[in-house]
Amino acid sequence: MNFHPLDDTSNISEGYLKCFAVAGRDMLLVHSAGQTRLIPNRCPHDGSPLKKARLANGCIQCPKHKIVFRLDNGEPLGGEAVADISPLSHYELVEEGGKVGILIK
Ligand code: FES
Repeated sequence: MNFHPLDDTSNISEGYLKCFAVAGRDMLLVHSAGQTRLIPNRCPHDGSPLKKARLANGCIQCPKHKIVFRLDNGEPLGGEAVADISPLSHYELVEEGGKVGILIK
């Protein structure tokens, strides 16, 4: 496995959201409320890109139908109204030499 850096950890702060294409996958590196996550650039509700999503209070809001997902566990907020929507997935992040990135083959 090789470390693929995405950005300097010093560049990541509240509201950070940046797109990356790694190993043929479209990803978003995001940060809110102390949580840094690498997520697919695709909403689990209806597949809309999340690159124009809103970040606040440790959550990301999809711009299409405004569903809010928690960054810590990916769960959609909204109780029974969103019970059938899959949680937001994420990729494992690694920190190395002051950079945040992922391990790829
Ligand atoms: S596609 Fe994201 S909330 Fe519907």
